[in-house]
Amino acid sequence: MERTTLVQFIRVQEKKADGATGEFTRLMNEILVAGKIISLAVNKAGIGEDILGLTGEVNVQGEEVQKLDEYANNTLLKIIGQSGCVSAIISEECDEAIQFKSGPGPRKYIFAMDPLDGSSNIDVNVSIGTIFSIYRGPEGSDDVEDDAILQAGMNQVAAGYIIYGSSTMFVYTTGQGVHGFTLDPELGEFFLSHPDIKIPDKGKQYSTNEGNQVKWLPEQKALIKYFKETDPETERPYSLRYIGSLVADFHRTLLKGGLFMYPGDQSNPEGKLRYAFEAAPLSFIVETAGGLGSTGKERILDIRPTHIHQRVPLFIGSREDVLTAEKILRENS
Ligand code: AHG
Ligand code: MN
Ligand code: MN
Repeated sequence: MERTTLVQFIRVQEKKADGATGEFTRLMNEILVAGKIISLAVNKAGIGEDILGLTGEVNVQGEEVQKLDEYANNTLLKIIGQSGCVSAIISEECDEAIQFKSGPGPRKYIFAMDPLDGSSNIDVNVSIGTIFSIYRGPEGSDDVEDDAILQAGMNQVAAGYIIYGSSTMFVYTTGQGVHGFTLDPELGEFFLSHPDIKIPDKGKQYSTNEGNQVKWLPEQKALIKYFKETDPETERPYSLRYIGSLVADFHRTLLKGGLFMYPGDQSNPEGKLRYAFEAAPLSFIVETAGGLGSTGKERILDIRPTHIHQRVPLFIGSREDVLTAEKILRENS
């Protein structure tokens, strides 16, 4: 069987992109190398060097930093930062944007990342991942200002995630389809395994942390009640699936359909998930696959963030399920 590597696929895609200079291909190659390095560390965690557990620090999100969070963050900052392809990196793990002015250049892009998503699941061997976004940045060697960094998700050049699960997969889009590649650990190469992924228009699963029910607003409670009601015509009740790693819950939703929700609540009206590192990249992917990404009220990709760690409520998945959620939330608020 003809096997296409991620590197070959990106190169073919680049030839189709008018005005492509090879810069984007170079950047994608750096990301996949970082992904392989992190995958190795995740798969060996618990054997050899002491990389499991907490660092003892708390990050800008107020969350305890796991050693693998820090390892993934440092690996990506080093490899992407030295590539000469980016002028700035924003990371869930870093308070401020990191500027890159040295190196070969021309530093065309801005890179946003959640270096390791699902950290609470690292020590219990549940799938975790890296999520990233690529935006066009200002050319030249000055510091990249906030207004160039805080871009609406619709400006993304590319978005993707690497999921470290039963196998390591690299899923990405440039707006021309969503494509999945599986790592062959013996060869150390990602091979095309899921060409042109399309999310089902409607699913049969909803995914949310029901443990937060007591804090939910009335409209969120009404929405979950809807999914639990019996109605053969709309294939209800839906099943509940919740892993607690966004990248894993999203990957299942992308392939099987349904709706992932992390709503705002009484104590956190903006919810928990970050716009730049989680909501925007996954919304670019899901919309390219035929689905929708919403705050419950508005399209994620239309939002222009006001600060790099901005949080947003997230309703993402099958088009019909997201539209149903928006309708029920509207009718009950
Ligand atoms: P991160 O590990 O990057 O901080 O992200 C964790 C997020 C996301 O992966 C997941 O959907 C969510 O936290 C789970 O939150 P709860 O434990 O509150 O359900
Ligand atoms: Mn995350
Ligand atoms: Mn994270």
